[in-house]
Amino acid sequence: MTQTLTITRPDDWHLHLRDGEMLTGILPETTRHFGRAIIMPNLVPPVVTSTDAAAYRDRIMAAMPEGASFTPLMTLYLTENTDPEDVARAHADGLISAVKLYPAGATTNSASGVTNFDNVRGVLEKMAEIGLPLCVHGEVTSADIDIFDREAVFIDRVLDPIRRATPGLRVVMEHITTADGVAYARSQGDDLGATITTHHLIINRNHILVGGIKPHYYCLPVAKRESHRLALLEAATSGDSRFFLGTDSAPHIDPLKENACGCAGCFTATNTMSCLAEVFETASALDKLEAFASLNGPAFYGLNPNADTITLTKGDPVTYPEKIETGAGPVTVFDPGFPLHWRVD
Ligand code: NCD
Ligand code: ZN
Repeated sequence: MTQTLTITRPDDWHLHLRDGEMLTGILPETTRHFGRAIIMPNLVPPVVTSTDAAAYRDRIMAAMPEGASFTPLMTLYLTENTDPEDVARAHADGLISAVKLYPAGATTNSASGVTNFDNVRGVLEKMAEIGLPLCVHGEVTSADIDIFDREAVFIDRVLDPIRRATPGLRVVMEHITTADGVAYARSQGDDLGATITTHHLIINRNHILVGGIKPHYYCLPVAKRESHRLALLEAATSGDSRFFLGTDSAPHIDPLKENACGCAGCFTATNTMSCLAEVFETASALDKLEAFASLNGPAFYGLNPNADTITLTKGDPVTYPEKIETGAGPVTVFDPGFPLHWRVD
């Protein structure tokens, strides 16, 4: 008997679409299954002003594959020079759905990020006032903090103080990778959400380092030990509305991944829904997939769920391309390391 699962069309609450030939090459991988996505602003140079965001949205729309009905939800990259009035106007115009905070130097293309949080106080207060969410890359960047501890330290030293100082600010802890992140999100109210990526539900740090270094599993925040993966899995499959899917699908061409100084980012857009169905089924939680991928995110952002559905069918192992050939170069698709049986029809 064929097993099928029909769920509300999913959204991706954290996605890197890049620009130019890379954008054109990888956009169909997301629009095939997803209705909307929060689009990360870490281009070079970053998407900083409402003018930048409008122009980037136009480039995305111009790259849209024939027949796709996908809505990019734009974000601004928060800098110490961001103008609260520009943010408020972009929000009022329906141009942006969130502002993104990168601590300076935390990850790929984050050099323009925030160093002194006092300098963004005015923007954060304006955002709290108008109800615009802040998406946070939650890692400290000080050289004396071990890379595996950077998320937990960020929660104590930066995130919690910012939230206490800015009552009413809606915050998304993005791509949480630790039991500490899960516990903090659980301890707070519904003005705090947390996204979890597909790959952090599947890999731990052994996948990156055991038996030779595996650059395609290297991303930031870096995958942690197995106990943390299990905490993420428990949160994602719990149905708790504070946890939702943000794939952080982050394409880099193979020569930049397979490199003496390889870029951070896993490209999961192509097979995310098959991966998630497999992971949720293994956790006996297929009935929670829709909440995680399609319902909790829109609820946090104050949007309706998508009106249409997708159907997954279980059968022989699914085939998907090992690489997406883009005009910018080849991008390796995330390999979960086990066969996937759920195909999106
Ligand atoms: C992202 C990228 O490549 O832009 N990389 C990653 O490892 N996730 C940046 C980010 O989201 O940290
Ligand atoms: Zn990201």
